Amino acid sequence: MTTMKPISPNDHYFDHYLFDNGSDLGAQQLNSLSALFDGTTRSVLSTLPLPASPNSLEIGAGNGSVARMIAEQTGGQVVAIDLDTTHLPRTPGVEPHRHDIREGVPAGPFDLIHARLVLTHLPARREIFAQLIDELAPGGWLVLADVGLADELLVAPEESDHDVWRKYNDAAYRQVGPAAGHDYLWAEQTEAAMFGAGLSEVSAEHLVPLARGGGPWAVYQSNLSKQAEAPLLATGLSMTDMDRYRAMLTDPEFRARFFSLTYTAGRKPSA
Ligand SMILES: C[S@@+](CC[C@H](N)C(=O)[O-])C[C@H]1O[C@@H](n2cnc3c(N)ncnc32)[C@H](O)[C@@H]1O
Repeated sequence: MTTMKPISPNDHYFDHYLFDNGSDLGAQQLNSLSALFDGTTRSVLSTLPLPASPNSLEIGAGNGSVARMIAEQTGGQVVAIDLDTTHLPRTPGVEPHRHDIREGVPAGPFDLIHARLVLTHLPARREIFAQLIDELAPGGWLVLADVGLADELLVAPEESDHDVWRKYNDAAYRQVGPAAGHDYLWAEQTEAAMFGAGLSEVSAEHLVPLARGGGPWAVYQSNLSKQAEAPLLATGLSMTDMDRYRAMLTDPEFRARFFSLTYTAGRKPSA
């Protein structure tokens, strides 16, 4: 990895990030994300006109499923970075690096830069975004996928679950997440940010997946509630409500929309 400009070195994001790849729960989290989103990511990336053997950058690569997909789809090289590379293997075409993106974006030029569910969580997202655009090759693509809050409980196994759902979401997404610098509005602002930065061919797809009890979204949410248990309880959420929230997520009748996911793509002009 070559020269990188540091970004917000004093922003202690990871101290609050609540997502520890190294734990068993972390591994399950990454696998749930692959199960939930790799299909859509594959179809978004497969529409991009890329040069032969492109040079790509995958940020917050997690378990490496998207980095592998890019290497296989394009036949090019992928630099895959993550703060924690425990589950990020070296595979053909993929070069894993343990790296904090806040310390700078790896020097390009890249024909494709992709980050899924990373910038939502980083307070320095706008500075990182500007650096990502600097590191795009002329004609190169930036593809970002981020979450917004959907917060709709559609089928509650018990009437009182509406109250539990509201209390949990207030604690998680109106207190703990925002206090750690998460911004659930960024996903829908990305398209305007790409236009404002002079990218062309900007497009955005907005999905609001339906989650069912016991399905991958519910497993993801339940794991997250365990990883973030201490800060959630510190907001005043009771352990009884926490336990009921987790039980609700395993009930086959449960249906909800937790988050929306917005995929936004834009291209650096060639000249
Ligand atoms: C929600 S997970 C998403 C993983 C993967 N992008 C996916 O969608 O399956 C966020 C990932 O970003 C990584 N990450 C968080 N902060 C980071 C940072 N400052 N620099 C690099 N990676 C970071 C985490 O370690 C984790 O693997």
